[in-house]
Amino acid sequence: MLDKVTKLIGEVNAFSATTKDEIESFRIKFLGKKGILNDLFAEFKNVAPKERKDFGAALNTLKNLAQEKVTHLKDLIEIKSEQKGIYGDLTRPSDPVELGSRHPISIVRNKIIDVFSRIGFTVSEGPEIEDDWHNFTALNLPEYHPARDMQDTFFIEKNPDILLRTHTSSVQVRYMENHKPPIRTISPGRVFRNEDISARAHCIFHQVEGLYIDTDVSFADLKQTLLYFTKEMFGKSKIRLRPSYFPFTEPSAEVDIYWGLETETDYKITKGTGWLEIMGCGMVDPNVLKNANIDPEVYSGYAFGMGIERIAMLLYQIPDIRMFYENDVRFLEQFKSIL
Ligand code: PHE
Repeated sequence: MLDKVTKLIGEVNAFSATTKDEIESFRIKFLGKKGILNDLFAEFKNVAPKERKDFGAALNTLKNLAQEKVTHLKDLIEIKSEQKGIYGDLTRPSDPVELGSRHPISIVRNKIIDVFSRIGFTVSEGPEIEDDWHNFTALNLPEYHPARDMQDTFFIEKNPDILLRTHTSSVQVRYMENHKPPIRTISPGRVFRNEDISARAHCIFHQVEGLYIDTDVSFADLKQTLLYFTKEMFGKSKIRLRPSYFPFTEPSAEVDIYWGLETETDYKITKGTGWLEIMGCGMVDPNVLKNANIDPEVYSGYAFGMGIERIAMLLYQIPDIRMFYENDVRFLEQFKSIL
């Protein structure tokens, strides 16, 4: 019996393996439930009492050796496969490089800036936390003017003079205060309104507003600029202007583009009319020019403003405004190919 164990010890010492499978069958053969070691331990009772001590010691040696062998061989294989990871097959194609994508709001914002900068507009920016003067009063919306209700406002710390801007028209006031005409500028930026969040509306969204001031600017100039914009942006060349009201422009209008009625979606988004409202516009009210120290007897101008989300929803047929802010990669990934 002792001879048998000594022989097995020799076998274990001599064993080597290069694959995980070989090691596993070695482990099962020696250390498994029905393996050699369990068999030998079961025979312990048949061994003559005086031989038991040596036999037991030999058995323990065999067991330890077998266990060490398994661990050692496993370690060796692991080290080898790690080295292979670094120096292995050099012709293997590498992992794909994941390209990021621009956010659709940025894509559309950049596109709008691009379209207007081609006809001489510069980009201007201003603070998101505004004072009452730049957001309302200078824009012909004095305190208690009922039109203030059109834009529900977030105020900062109960101070009615400091607020989150409700439109980027505030940037245009700042621009007029600091620049002499001729003025051609667009103001992209984030705006805030105290509105319930739904598929169509959000309390934080983005706008681009435009301002053009020079001598002899007419409504025809405005119309031509809007036509140029809709052609470049949407590839659509039919627009209409509907009379509207804004405190800072007179006359004011709402701009609709003819979207068409070719598909079922066209029917849905235009409510069966084919027309879509895309922005507000008008001739700058003389009071606004006066407030910014520009002489309305000499200068006139036009202004327009649009929501970037709305334009992006139309361009990419996005059904819900909330998708812009959820940052779901499955949504964002779809804009990979657009710069
Ligand atoms: N400021 C207006 C708004 O936020 C948009 C607008 C800008 C309308 C300029 C007319 C002229 O709704």
